[in-house]
Amino acid sequence: MAKWYHKDLLDIKDLKAEEIETILDLTSSCKQIYQRQIKKFPTLRGKTVVLLFFEPSTRTRTSFEIASKWMSADLVNVSIAQSSVVKGESLYDTARTIEAMGTDLVVVRHRSAGVPHTLAKLLSCSVINAGDGAHEHPTQALLDLYTIRERLGRIQGLKVLIVGDILHSRVARSQIYALQKLGAEITVLGPSTLIPKGIESFGVKVGTSLEEELPKADVVSLLRIQKERQERGHFPSLAEYAELYGINEERLKLIRDDALIIHPGPTNLGVEITPKAAEDKRSAINQQVTNGVAVRMAALYLLLGGGQENELVI
Ligand code: CP
Repeated sequence: MAKWYHKDLLDIKDLKAEEIETILDLTSSCKQIYQRQIKKFPTLRGKTVVLLFFEPSTRTRTSFEIASKWMSADLVNVSIAQSSVVKGESLYDTARTIEAMGTDLVVVRHRSAGVPHTLAKLLSCSVINAGDGAHEHPTQALLDLYTIRERLGRIQGLKVLIVGDILHSRVARSQIYALQKLGAEITVLGPSTLIPKGIESFGVKVGTSLEEELPKADVVSLLRIQKERQERGHFPSLAEYAELYGINEERLKLIRDDALIIHPGPTNLGVEITPKAAEDKRSAINQQVTNGVAVRMAALYLLLGGGQENELVI
């Protein structure tokens, strides 16, 4: 297993392929705990983890919380609405204050791109990016890749079709970096207003017909329509989006039997995917959520001094 030298986990862009593989391999070890009746081991005893979420979250926040607790870290979940942020305290004062209390690691989600990077420079403790604006969501991409590898056995050479709001999606950006580093071929497809200009320079293809692209895909990655970031009307209505880009029973027939459908959640059921399609055997949406805990355990372990050779004993 490769060594890990980073203080922080801020983005996929700056990780090497072997570092991504290190996290995925470690995730497999962490998943062993799922089989146990008592899911607790002392690896991070004495370490303090603080969750600082300035945007709503269910999956990411809860999985970091469960991961920290299973590994015996002390966990503090800061409620922004009840904190001094509402009295005008700056983000950086909040972070410095939290670090001054002896925190070892801060997990931060923020609506502005670059906040985790700025915090990482300012603080001597570790920082994990739990999603920053439309920039990156590294642990989501890692759990997506882990799920793909678990179901299909590899990443190298797979054809991945990413459908939807590429423009606002931190998940798409992190997926593109991670999948490319591990040798997948990527096509993106969505309303032209939601495909960033010049995205081909990232080495991805831009598809124009869902009906043509679905049969070719090993993995269909659906993105959430981010109602909170649609400040301009990028498409006429959710109903029209569902009509043109949603995975419904008809389109499900175009997806190969051995292919995989993923979605980071939360799903807008009936928009990106119908409830029936979300329950199809090719859908890995629930499995992604399950794997989210193990991926975050692996990330916490690596950043909180999991040993020079990264040998995890659980
Ligand atoms: N996928 C994801 O980030 O979900 P949450 O917003 O619920 O954390």
